[in-house]
Amino acid sequence: MTTVLYPGSFDPIHNGHVEIVETASRLFDRVVVATLYNPQKHSGLFDLAERSALIEASLDHLDNVSVTSFSSLVVDLAREVKADFIVKGLRAVSDFESELQMAQTNTTISGVDTLFIPSASSHSFLASKLIREIARFSGDITAMVPPAVAEALQHKFADSNEENPT
Ligand code: PNS
Repeated sequence: MTTVLYPGSFDPIHNGHVEIVETASRLFDRVVVATLYNPQKHSGLFDLAERSALIEASLDHLDNVSVTSFSSLVVDLAREVKADFIVKGLRAVSDFESELQMAQTNTTISGVDTLFIPSASSHSFLASKLIREIARFSGDITAMVPPAVAEALQHKFADSNEENPT
């Protein structure tokens, strides 16, 4: 039985992430999706509990996928969930440099290897940062995220506009 760990910020999960999990769930017996606190991304939009709930709602159709969150090294989580590999998605060459650096670092400190799954060209432009920005100004993000995420983004920015009326 092969278990893989798919870590990310997922703030929020979008259709490109869902596609990577769908591919991993076909290729491997068990997929653990983990949303991690990223110290390099100081302010998140959704907290870890909200991100996990949105990931669960978006991956409900996949039986061999579980969701967790973690605030430590990804390799420690990999050990804890008995992952054979870490899985990451690659959208474009621009992702490769930093992903390769993280993969090599993680292998050096733990022996856990990372496998890369290429994103479909139809999803390769998707980025949570841009989706947050579009949603903040009431743009249409429904083609880029699962329905539960679109709804959560609308609520999040409706709430913050009520708190900070212009
Ligand atoms: O979705 P992202 O922002 O590309 O995810 C990056 C993430 C969260 C997977 C990465 O920052 C990470 O692994 N953070 C956990 C801390 C850690 O293990 N750092 C060492 C990485 S070599």
